[in-house]
Formats: sequence, C-alpha cells, structure tokens
Amino acid sequence: MRHHQEIGERHLRQWFADDPLRGERYAAEAAGLYLDYAKQRIDDVTLQLLQDLAKACGLHERIEAMFSGERVNVTEQRAALHVALRAQRGDRFLVDGCDVVPAIHTMLDRMATFCEQVRGGTWLGYSGKRIRNVVNIGIGGSDLGPMMAFEALHDYRLSSIEFRFVANVDGADFCGAVDGLDPAETLFVVCSKTFATVETLSNARAARAWCVAALGSEPAVARHFVAVSSNAERVRAFGIDPANTFSLWDWVGGRYSMDSAIGLSTMLAIGSQHFHDLLGGFHAMDQHFRGTPFEQNLPMLIGLLSVWNNNFLGCTTQAVLPYAACLKRFPAYLQQLSMESNGKHVNLDGVPVDYNTSPIVWGEPGSNGQHSVYQLLHQGTQLIPCDFIGFSRTSSPLGDQHDLLMASLFAQSEALAFGRTPAALQAEGTATALIAHRSCAGNRPSNTLLAEQLDPRTLGALVALYEHSVFVQGVIWNIDSFDQWGVELGKVLATRTAAEIASDSEPQLRHDSSTNTLIRRYRHLRSS
Ligand code: F6P
Repeated sequence: MRHHQEIGERHLRQWFADDPLRGERYAAEAAGLYLDYAKQRIDDVTLQLLQDLAKACGLHERIEAMFSGERVNVTEQRAALHVALRAQRGDRFLVDGCDVVPAIHTMLDRMATFCEQVRGGTWLGYSGKRIRNVVNIGIGGSDLGPMMAFEALHDYRLSSIEFRFVANVDGADFCGAVDGLDPAETLFVVCSKTFATVETLSNARAARAWCVAALGSEPAVARHFVAVSSNAERVRAFGIDPANTFSLWDWVGGRYSMDSAIGLSTMLAIGSQHFHDLLGGFHAMDQHFRGTPFEQNLPMLIGLLSVWNNNFLGCTTQAVLPYAACLKRFPAYLQQLSMESNGKHVNLDGVPVDYNTSPIVWGEPGSNGQHSVYQLLHQGTQLIPCDFIGFSRTSSPLGDQHDLLMASLFAQSEALAFGRTPAALQAEGTATALIAHRSCAGNRPSNTLLAEQLDPRTLGALVALYEHSVFVQGVIWNIDSFDQWGVELGKVLATRTAAEIASDSEPQLRHDSSTNTLIRRYRHLRSS
C-alpha cells in the first residue's frame, strides 16, 4: 500500500521518458508467446514487492502441490491435475500414489481411433450413411472450451464435416443447431463431466428423440451418440453404450477440461495430430510455469499484475481483446476460467476475505470493439486494464488488412497508455471548448501478447498461460480456485421452481412476493 501511495498517479509517459529501455526490459517470452507488460503502471520496486508477496503466499509451494496431485481443491477434497492431461508419454503424475499418465494416453489413443473412423468415413450412421455433422452438447466447461477451440482453429478443421454446438436449455439453441441436418448423417457428442447437468441432459434427450423419430429405431442411438463423462453409470442409464463413452477423471475441473476427452469434438474437427500439437503447447507452458524464475515467468507476471491492478489500483474489471476474429469466443472462455475459479468470498479456511477476488472479465475481438466499447476504455471514469492479443501472421491474408489490424492493436495500447494532453490539443489548434472533450488522460494499463500465428500449439500455450495466471491469483487471495459452490443455489431453486411451473394445479408458492408474482404471471401468460 505504501508503495502504491508513493507511485500515486505517476504517469506512464513519465516512466517511459525516464527509461528508454522500458519496452525491452518489461517483456518476457515463452512457448511462442511474447509478453510486453511495459504499459503496466509498475516499476522495478513494484515487481520486487509482487515477487515478495508471491513468496509470502507460498506460490512456489502451491505450484508444487498442484503439480504433485495434492488435493488443492480443498472443499471438494480433490486434486486439480489438469497439467497431467498434457503430459507426455513416460511422464509421471501421481494421484493418491497412482500414475495417471498411462490412462490419459490410453484415452487419447481411443479418441484418436474414433476420430479417424469418423473423419475417414468408416464410422457409419445407423442407416449406413457417413457422418457429415457433429453436434457437441454440453454447457460451461463442456461447451466453452470445445467451441472456443473450434472457432480458434477454424483453419485446421476438416471442412467435409459440419460442426455445431448446443449449450442453452432454450429450445432455440437445439433447434438452430440441428436445423438443416440429416439425422442419418449426424453424430451427437454429449459432454458432461457429471452427466447430471439439467441443460445438457435435456438437450441430449431432445437429440435422442430427434434422431430416433427420424431413424425409427432406438438402436440407432448407438451409432449416433457418444458421451464424454466421468460418470459411466449415468451415461449407461441414459442409454449410451459404454463402448461409446470417453472418460475423464474427478481431478479434472470442468473449466480445465478442454484438453481432456471433453475435447473430443475438437479432435474430430482438427484431427489427432493437431490435437497433440495443442497439448504440446499446453505442456510447454506448464513446464515454463513450473520451472522459470518470476521475472521471466509469464503466468506469474500476468497473474501478479492482475492482482496489482485489482487490489492496489482498484480495477474491478479486466478486458481481453484478441485481435483475431477467430478468437471471438476466447473472452467467454476466459470468463468462466477466471470468474468461476476466483469469484470467491471466503479464503481456504472459510473466513470472509476483505479484498477483491476475481475481476469481471469481458472482451470483444479487435477491431470490432474499437467501434463499440473502447470509448469507455479511453475516456470512461473507470480504469480498465486490457490484455491485447495479436499474431504476426494470418492464414487469411487479404491485401494489407492484417497489417491494418495489427496497427490498430498497437495504436490502441499506445493511446490508452499515453493519451492526448490538453497542451497537445491546443498546439494542434483544437477549439478551446472541445479540448476537455477531446483530451484522453492516458495512464491506462495494458499487456500485449504477441505470437507468430494462431495454430494449435500457440492456442494450447495461450490457454495454459491464463489457466496458470488464474491459479497464481487464487494463491495470492488464498482461495479455492477449483470449486464452484456459488452455482449450486441457483440449481436447487430452479429444480423447485420447475416443478411448480410444471404443476397442473395452481401451486402453493412459498417464495418471496416478487418471485411468486413472476411465476404466477408466467403461468398465466403461458396458458393464455
Ligand atoms: O454449474 C457449473 C458447472 O459445474 C461448471 O463448472 C461446468 O463446467 C458446467 O457446470 C458443466 O458441468 P458438466 O460438465 O458436469 O455438465
């Protein structure tokens, strides 16, 4: 706090003027990702203090605990060993004394065999037609990761198969997803770690009905449905053949699962070799995170800078701005990763915290966002740190458009940092009445992540970078980043309310007067 007061409103203009090498000094690189954090409101003392804070919070020990398969998810008494999912054959990761890597690779091999059959046209539908459509049914981590990866790796997908994603329990989502598809050529991948999620099971039932109605036979399900779950019993009870079930383990959190069998639709889209490249990127970042000193450690830097912005500069939100159209779902993916992991109000001992935890994460791809939300970033009354993400090469070159896109990224971070002073506006001859309106204070912090191109390996590294930076923040805040009890209450109340809404007779409502009135009004309008 004292250091924060000392720095006060010291401006990035000043910092850059004082240190001509700042742009080179405040940068680090790993797994194909270059991080420029020179436009953060920090100096060497800040970095040293953040490093001291990490030490005092036992960051190193907590990282080792996570990688060693300890039950770091204390409230559910589970390991959080997603790093094992991208381990190489022969690596060892232990859960309760048992090496889990062989089982992971057996599962990856099974997935690869299945994907080859579908992609190669030897896995046929019930009526003997080849599969031309894959519909992923899942929600939260069982949707956002696969969908984000599918969009991001658009250039690597097999174009002869159509991929669609259904998450919302709103029937419009399912109807839209199957619109125009031939059931005889459609494969459903039902993804649910628990196989208990009402949205996913409702959509899976709708899919089964759609499929059986068209193909005229229950046995068709075996050729048109596969499941990804850690609950084989529930999958069987639903009617999906255990032979068509791909499993994951309770030590894989939903929002940390896109590199497990939950990535089956990703592998179907990009093929097993590219999926392994994706895992290679994750793995490279894991090794970097575990073995690199603080000053060069990307996840530590990003995590601790986020803590600095949040808890010291008072920034309650964080923008993620990818300058790549195919990363359009990346902000949504990061929202779950950060907000479900670190949106917590008590520490590991259950004691209420008296500091902010996860920022609200949001974002829009550049350059679209520039013409919608960036006004607030530049001149709004709140300080919003931004992560810009860009790539040197594009797979869709169109004249000079990629250069223009990247010029926009660099210009935005520059404008946020340095702004435009009233003096400069005056010198340019701006009308006095407009000077206040047109001036931009600047001093708005950002990171820039630059990579060569958006390929599977880079995507893996990028996701692992954020996974670990979220973990770093959780360690500093001393919270459980791997549980999500807050979402339970809504689920319980929805079950009760669904029964009341479905009731034929007027139900005895015992909610508050607002909820009671809304339910009555809904029932009334629905029947009229
Ligand atoms: O309700 C939240 C949540 O449990 C997320 O953590 C998870 O990603 C999502 O629901 C879906 O869960 P499942 O894969 O078990 O259907």
